[in-house]
Amino acid sequence: MKSADRIDRDEVTMTTSTRETDSFSMGTLSLLLIGPEEKRRTAVARAFAGSQATISCELSYYPSPDDLPGLLAAGYDAVIIDLDCNPEQAFEVIENLCGHNSSITVMVHSGKSDPTMLVHCMRAGAREFLTEPVLPGAASEALIRAAVRRDEGRRQRTAAGKLLVFAGAKGGCGVTTIASNFAVSLAAHEKVLLVDLDLMLGDVALTLGIRPGFTVLDAFDNLNRLDSDFLMGLTAKHDSGLVVLGAPDQIPALQPSGNGLDRLLRVAREEFAYVVVDAGSCPIKTCESLFEMATTVYLVSQVSVADLRSANRFVMRFFNGPDREKLNIVLNRYDSRNLDIDDEAVAKALLQPAKWRVPSDFVAAQRAQNTGVPLSTQKSALARSIHDMAAAASGRVAACTKKKKFGLFGRSEPDVLAGLKQWKN
Ligand SMILES: Nc1ncnc2c1ncn2[C@@H]1O[C@H](COP(=O)(O)OP(=O)(O)OP(=O)(O)O)[C@@H](O)[C@H]1O
Ligand SMILES: [Mg+2]
Repeated sequence: MKSADRIDRDEVTMTTSTRETDSFSMGTLSLLLIGPEEKRRTAVARAFAGSQATISCELSYYPSPDDLPGLLAAGYDAVIIDLDCNPEQAFEVIENLCGHNSSITVMVHSGKSDPTMLVHCMRAGAREFLTEPVLPGAASEALIRAAVRRDEGRRQRTAAGKLLVFAGAKGGCGVTTIASNFAVSLAAHEKVLLVDLDLMLGDVALTLGIRPGFTVLDAFDNLNRLDSDFLMGLTAKHDSGLVVLGAPDQIPALQPSGNGLDRLLRVAREEFAYVVVDAGSCPIKTCESLFEMATTVYLVSQVSVADLRSANRFVMRFFNGPDREKLNIVLNRYDSRNLDIDDEAVAKALLQPAKWRVPSDFVAAQRAQNTGVPLSTQKSALARSIHDMAAAASGRVAACTKKKKFGLFGRSEPDVLAGLKQWKN
């Protein structure tokens, strides 16, 4: 791509403040402006300024089909194209754009109100034909329609594959064991992709005894080529039918961008009914994006003061609002006989009761991890409880593990709260 001819948002912000506009109640739209003549681009940008959008990028040339995937990875909501400078090239861009992404709104502007051209543009996939001079009122109405289309696209995408994210309150609390075996169970009935997003120390592939040739890093490094075929080429298949996208063997230099993560998971959800993620110890920004996109977040914690303290931090930071609905607390290595902390205290610390209790079975968990043979091949309470979680996630049974009664040795709620207070000090 001719980078000298591309003006990204940061530069636009610095050079033309009029191109940054107020927030839109439905969420600001991100626009890409394409037109070889600067004067004409500026005139159109002025019409869109003061309305409900940000011009995130301007191109002073008509992009080739090869440029488009990279350009569109930025996630623009609408593209505004100058038709008059070179109608033939402009038609081609419209066709390629709409072929690549049917939910994006393509708008065309022209000084000629020629009905044949208009029909041509609409057939190529354009949604709006703006006659010059483009007036702010017309621009604003076109943006409202684009916002409706964008929201509809988002709704459809959400209706695609479910995103089930497993995160740990603390290192070593059992996220990989539970996420991998959960995904294997789910794959017995559904089309499932397991993604290892623990970029530092991910060991999902090892846990399942497979050796993928590629990893999530190859997806992040090739965002402009990332579609479902490319994604499938990066994955490895487990004997259970589960498809796995593993973590790299070496610690990468960079973290994925929000856009990269969004694109990977979007493509994955278009292809798979369920995308299960081992979030490992991902950074705050990645957690934020992941949890926002997730259908369900399984927060794995052990029942100890230290684990509950960390889990409490997670809940307060990420699930203290409406997102609380999507949170499932999973208590791992749960042992009712040796419990020092009772259920009420857990619920108080985590602002909601635990939904799942996975029993402690060190022998079974170690054997599965060391041999790469999933838990589902053995008969154990551990395997059964993870199987129950997967069955509930796919709606096969709406079960959840029963609340257990605890004996005389249960730690009382005030003790735990005192413990929580201590951490704060
Ligand atoms: N329910 C369980 N009962 C007994 N041992 C378990 C259980 N779940 C996990 N383990 C063991 O605990 C250890 C850590 O588990 P695992 O690797 O799944 O945790 P993790 O949260 O993914 O760790 P990390 O922070 O390193 O990613 C492993 O040895 C595993 O076999
Ligand atoms: Mg792990």
